[in-house]
Amino acid sequence: MDRRTIVVTRRLPGVPWDDLAKRFPAGDPPKDGTMSREEFLARARGASGILCTLADRVDAELMDAAGPSLVVVSNFAVGVNNVDVDGATRRGIRVCNTPDVLTDATADLGFALLLSAARKVSDADRFVRAGGWTGWDPWGFLGVPVAGKTLGIVGMGKIGAAVARRSRGFSMKVLYHNRRRIPPSEEAGLGASYRDLDALLAESDFVVLCVPLTPETRGLISTERLGKMKRTAVLVNIARGEIVDDEAVATALAEGRLFGAGFDVFEKEPLVHPKLLSAPSAVLLPHLGSATVEAREGMGRLATENLLAVLDGREPPNSVN
Ligand code: GLV
Repeated sequence: MDRRTIVVTRRLPGVPWDDLAKRFPAGDPPKDGTMSREEFLARARGASGILCTLADRVDAELMDAAGPSLVVVSNFAVGVNNVDVDGATRRGIRVCNTPDVLTDATADLGFALLLSAARKVSDADRFVRAGGWTGWDPWGFLGVPVAGKTLGIVGMGKIGAAVARRSRGFSMKVLYHNRRRIPPSEEAGLGASYRDLDALLAESDFVVLCVPLTPETRGLISTERLGKMKRTAVLVNIARGEIVDDEAVATALAEGRLFGAGFDVFEKEPLVHPKLLSAPSAVLLPHLGSATVEAREGMGRLATENLLAVLDGREPPNSVN
């Protein structure tokens, strides 16, 4: 048995705890639910590897608690904003993530939110369940059309591109904004035209956020930026909550300055702004982007491979530093 210890912060699809426990000295098997901060700090002490989720904060305090033995933080997520990547790099710790395996699942969910918000699917579903349906109503739950409309994708990475590809089936015009313009051949392949952010917001009927959370994207969709959007537009966030001012969106919805919103992520999740909770035109999901069996098992497989590769002195398949 390897004498080094590892921490797996919770029971995860695709992460073979029993196999890992055969190789590394193991405490109790990981439980369901987020590990408390106290337990995380205590278990990290002297660990060589950490396999964690986006709900676990890996900051200076945690890495200092782990000490110099720590060589890898393998995140069960594509986003790594829960990890202080610069701090990890300074300490010689590899930070790994799980891209690709969740691209399609996340893009599908983006489209599900777009369609649900456009056609008031959640609101109408609540109405039926509450027994409010007394007969077909020519005026009830009128939505906005999707086919042929303009889709603005903010963040043209793998997930943004997958959203663009789905929009072809709806004959949508695709605009995008990205830190760097993508090569013309890729633009042509996706049928997407570059815009600066304000122009994209002004022209789009649907805006889908696919950017990672960074100091540049934090608070990107503010009251001022919402003011540039069409009153008939729908905003979809499948990226990270902190990119959007949730209260500003709820206010815009309440005042009829935005038609709808489809959010999978929230500024202070799992807390959802009360004004959003009471906005009937907001479709709200509990961070489900990658929630298919296939995607989650793929994430677990990759997160395990990344962890073991670094511990074995090999190059991990997916590292961000
Ligand atoms: C989910 O949000 C992820 O980053 O994988």
